[in-house]
Amino acid sequence: MRPTFPAATLATLAREQGTPLWIYDASVIRERIAQLKGFDVIRFAQKACSNLAILRLMREEGVQVDAVSLGEIERALLAGYSPKGDPAGVVLTCDLLDRPTLARAVELGIEVNVGSIDMLRQLGERSPGHRVWLRINPGFGHGHSQKTNTGGENSKHGIWHSHLPDAVAVIREFGLHLVGLHMHIGSGVDYSHLEDVCGAMVGAVRDLGCDLEAISAGGGLSIPYRDGDPVVDIPRYAALWNQARREVESLLGHPVRLELEPGRFLVAESGCLLSEVRATKDVGENHFVLVDAGFNDLMRPSMYGSYHAMSLLGASGEPATTPTRPTVVAGPLCESGDVFTQHDGGLVAPRELPAARVGDLLLIHDTGAYGASMSSNYNSRPLLPEVLVDGDETRLIRRRQSLADLLALEL
Ligand code: LLP
Repeated sequence: MRPTFPAATLATLAREQGTPLWIYDASVIRERIAQLKGFDVIRFAQKACSNLAILRLMREEGVQVDAVSLGEIERALLAGYSPKGDPAGVVLTCDLLDRPTLARAVELGIEVNVGSIDMLRQLGERSPGHRVWLRINPGFGHGHSQKTNTGGENSKHGIWHSHLPDAVAVIREFGLHLVGLHMHIGSGVDYSHLEDVCGAMVGAVRDLGCDLEAISAGGGLSIPYRDGDPVVDIPRYAALWNQARREVESLLGHPVRLELEPGRFLVAESGCLLSEVRATKDVGENHFVLVDAGFNDLMRPSMYGSYHAMSLLGASGEPATTPTRPTVVAGPLCESGDVFTQHDGGLVAPRELPAARVGDLLLIHDTGAYGASMSSNYNSRPLLPEVLVDGDETRLIRRRQSLADLLALEL
């Protein structure tokens, strides 16, 4: 369910903050958290949306956090997560440890979810006894795009399932403390693989021959980006994973914690990208509407061909009532791939939208996950501001990057 921001709020934000601009609705995030109560730990994959205000909201709601880099560790600490008081408050998940990240993870004693044997060895040499998870690649994966499938032979992620004994040998060599096993096979669109992953997890615990405190189901829960997309059946999802947990418990003879690591599910629907129509033009058969946001802001359509629903609004924020026509929505960048209506394999997949006029506003929906967090400065375009709407309060949670900020690092 998408947030509906009042027309006046949108028009005011566009006027006061300028466009383009990210807007999030806190109530949608809280609703999604409440839906996942069947898991002992919800660990937010902050790569989806790592703004400090969003991380603080997660912490206040009892959600723990995953980090994939030194930057994400520091964000978690700034948001109030404390690895000293609670080693599981932040878990670092990666497939390699660059030197500064290794040093900081050791200094903080932060739990590390290890994705390669080399990484395990480097951590063991620096920090014997460190608390570690093993991320297993079970030999198959699933994603909404090949690029988001993180299992199987074409994926660099995780320790290949048959190499589990090598990982155990390194754990023993350095006296590392094994906390749990983790599987994240990708960011998907359906759940046909679910039983196989649960089975692979139980099988891995059986093969492991070591004790564990926890298992993690990873993330990957999707949202219905377009009408008719599958909606995740949370009770079934939780039931199958709880069944796997019970099988693991009976193998180990004691209770085991069940973690889930969603990114998109918690934040995607809460967010939208507000842009302004700056030009319209006909190019042969195609009618283009050019907005002031580009793929440097929202990369998903260009990167994966992802579909995002759109609403055209007048300058006052009211829904447009003009007759619809097939429209290609594109941005300002110097590339033909800077198109937001790309789907079904087409670079310019026209979409029925109300006829747009220069000065209208275009809302691009479901951009709370992998929107702002994947933005870049391509074409020397500053990063966008972010606004959080929480009930009656509307708060700027990141200011627009200035050109001075952007140029400040260059010598
Ligand atoms: N856990 C791990 C280890 C991950 O690598 C990821 C996502 C997640 C959890 C969260 O996955 P989610 O629940 O958000 O699907 N940029 C792509 C998605 C790439 C996800 C990378 N890893 C997109 O925009 O769809």
